[in-house]
This record gives sequence, C-alpha cells and structure tokens, in this order.
Amino acid sequence: MSSTKIWTHKGTFLLAAVGSAVGLGNLWRFPYLTGENGGGAFILVYALTIAVVGIPILIAETLLGRASRKSPIMGMKYLTESHGTSRHWQVIGWMGASAAFIILSFYSVIAGWAIHYTWLMFSGQLSGASADVISASFGELLASPNQLLLYHTLFMLASALIVGMGIHKGIENGLRFMMPALFIILMIVLAYGVMTGDAVAAIKFLFTFNLNDLSLEGWLQAMGQSFFTLSLGMGAIMAYGAYMSKEASLTRTAISIALVDTAIALIAGIAIFSLVFGAGMDAGQGPGLMFVTLPIAFADLPGGALLGGVFFILVIGAALTSAISLVEPVAAFLVERFGFSRPLATSIMAGLCWLLGLLTVFSFNLWSEGTWTHQLFGRSPFEILEFLTNIMMPLGGLLIALFAGWALSREEVLNEMDTNDRWFHTWQFLVRFIAPTAVAFVFLRTLPQVEGYLIPALGAALITAAFTAGRTFATRQNKV
Ligand code: TRP
Repeated sequence: MSSTKIWTHKGTFLLAAVGSAVGLGNLWRFPYLTGENGGGAFILVYALTIAVVGIPILIAETLLGRASRKSPIMGMKYLTESHGTSRHWQVIGWMGASAAFIILSFYSVIAGWAIHYTWLMFSGQLSGASADVISASFGELLASPNQLLLYHTLFMLASALIVGMGIHKGIENGLRFMMPALFIILMIVLAYGVMTGDAVAAIKFLFTFNLNDLSLEGWLQAMGQSFFTLSLGMGAIMAYGAYMSKEASLTRTAISIALVDTAIALIAGIAIFSLVFGAGMDAGQGPGLMFVTLPIAFADLPGGALLGGVFFILVIGAALTSAISLVEPVAAFLVERFGFSRPLATSIMAGLCWLLGLLTVFSFNLWSEGTWTHQLFGRSPFEILEFLTNIMMPLGGLLIALFAGWALSREEVLNEMDTNDRWFHTWQFLVRFIAPTAVAFVFLRTLPQVEGYLIPALGAALITAAFTAGRTFATRQNKV
C-alpha cells in the first residue's frame, strides 16, 4: 500500500521540505514585511522565533508524519488510536488538510502574477517605462479576471501534473531538477543586485538591529511569518515526513531546513533591497514591493528586462515547489482512504482548489467591493480565506506542539528522535510551554477586532485552556 512508500534517499526529505519552505514566503512576503517593519529588528525577532518555536514544531510535525507513515488525516487517526489518546486530536489532520486546500487556492493565483511578470519582463514591455506606467500595469492585471484566470489555471495544472506523477517520478524528480536550478538563479540575481544596486544600504537595512524600531504589531508579524515560511501547521511537512527515511535525524534535518530557508530569505532580501535602494526607492511599499517597486528598479537598469524575467522565473519555480507540498496531503489522503489512483486523487484535489481559487480571482475585480462578504465582514472573499488560514496555521502548530509534547509517549518520541536526554528535555520544554505560548500570541493577532484589555485576557484564557487540554489528553505513560 501507499503507506509504506519512502523517499529514494536519506536526504530527499530535506530537499522536499526545503522546496516546500522556500516560496512566495521568502521572495515576496519576507522582503515586504521586513521593509514595512523597518529592517533589522524585524529580522532579529523572526530569527529568534524560528529558533525557539519554528524548529521545535518542525521536529514535532515531521515526527508525527514519520511515526504514522500516513497522510495527515489518516496518520492522526492512527496515532490517536495506537496511543489511546482522545479522538479529538484528529482535528489536527482535518484542519491541516483543509488549510492546505484553502492556501493553495489563493497561492496559485498570486504565483500566477509572477507568470504575467515573467512575460512582461522578457518581452521588454517594461524596459524604460516610468514608475506610473509600471504601477498601472499591476492594476490592469488585477482588474482582468481573464488574465488572472489563465495564469491561475496554468499554475494549478503544473502543480497537479507533478504530484499526479507520484512521489518518486513526479515530486522527487521535479525537485531534483528545480531546486539546484532555483539556487543558481538566486545567485545570479544576487550578483546582479549587488553589482548594479546599492548593496551597502541593503545590508545596513537588513542587519542593523534596533529593537526600539519594532512595533508590537511587528513582533507579531515576525512570528506569523516564521510559521508561514517553514510551512508549519497544515500537514504539508507531516505528509512529506511520512516518506522520510528512518535513518535521517529529525533534529539535524529540522535545523538544516530552518537554516537554508532563512539564508534564502536573507539572500533574496539583499538582492531585492540592493535594487530598490539603488533606484532610490522606499522599502516600505507593502505587498506591491515585488510586483511594482522591483519592476520599476529593473526598468532602468542595463539588462534589467532579462534579469527581471529570470527573477520572476525563480518566483514561479519556488512557488511551484511549495504548491506541490500543499497538494500532497489531500491527494495522499484520497489515495489511502478511497483507493483512488494518484492521478485521479490529484485531479480531484487540484480541480476543487482551482474552483475555490475563483473566489480569489474575482476578489481583485468583479467582487472587489460590494459583495455580501463585504457587507457582512468588511472583506473580500480572498481576504476572508486568508484570514481563515491565518487562524488555522498557528492553531494547527499549537495543537501539533501540544500533541507531540503531552499526548505522545516518551518512548515513542525518544525512539523517533534518537537523541540525548538533554536535547530531548529542551525540545520537550519548548513544545510543551514556549511554543504554545508564542503561538497563542500570534493567534490573537489574527483577531483584530479584539482590542485593548481583551487581548491579554483572551491570551491568558487560551493558554490556560491549551495547557489543561494538553494535560487531560496526555497518555498515562507520559505522566512523569
Ligand atoms: N512556505 C511556503 C512559502 O514560504 C508556503 C507554504 C507552502 C506553506 N506549504 C505550506 C505555508 C504549508 C503553510 C503551510 O511560500
């Protein structure tokens, strides 16, 4: 059966997890959030969260996948039954799969924008264009449902094709080709950025740590970003972990994923901000940094159209290796649960996701205002989907930390982790206490309507509830 499938090599999980982690989060979201939050201080908090929250949860999520050797939904069912814990923990699998489903629906639309910009760049349409023209071209893209739909369809088809070919022929082979290619492109873009732009200003901006610059909101965004960028909390890592070799070390692998992912975000940051500062522009442009500010910088540079095109290919490729990790959890579930063939399971997943993606496509034009969602919630359908996943992602991470920290037996964890006592206790402390506390904090950020004194009150309640739940659900062996 599919549940005994394993990656071809000991290191393939690392490759796949890095492919999942490195995506729009690194190239688009990280630079613009850093830019909006004033640079170094944001990065400091982000790196700190990766270390004390991200890595422990990454270990926990991989562990759940490898210990069950099943897709997240079936894996959680298996783990709760074999460990005699409460059935309620199975929500981890269901929520993860639903979140993956929702994220992919809009991830694909945004990745599609990069397809459009690749074309705009290579065809030279933006060379020498003025800033106004370039800003307007982004507006025109968003205003056109047909164009967005075309790119969304192309991107979803590509993701489905890779996953449909199976974990060896499709995912592994795809990654083995794409990951080195992406790395080379990144290095080319970095060299170009440093040579033609203002690298000194970029490095100063990224590595001057002044914590006073950072707002509370910035702290919270830094934490949220560390989850998103590591692909945590929605079963993607669990699904890949199910195929991980028993010989690979969980700890070393998790640390490598975090280091590579962070290094790539920083390299992308240096490249992008060198170009942006070199063109005398402002870093704090928000989400338009990659699709407006950067093209403006490219437009004036020698070879800018070519390099700009190459850069957007990097964005498409990085997004694709992340998107396949979002297709996998649900596709694998359909194969396991209903015995569908992989191509059929993948087509169902991608087809439904494509349909849901229409909500995002129309949110930028036909439904950009005045729909019932605006009347009811003051947001476009896309904003609602994004809001939902912003809740599900940290919540999934929280539950994974609590389940691995409190409900699994010590023997099971030690057996999987294969590590010394000191590190085991450190990890356990982090997933039992530190990660849940931090996640509860991030979680509350996604409830902007709750303000003032209500936030601390709700935070305390949530943390208490989480710990109580953790203790109640803990297995007997676990009570030390
Ligand atoms: N980590 C990816 C990025 O940085 C996005 C992503 C892929 C993701 N799979 C995920 C985010 C699973 C959360 C969960 O672009």
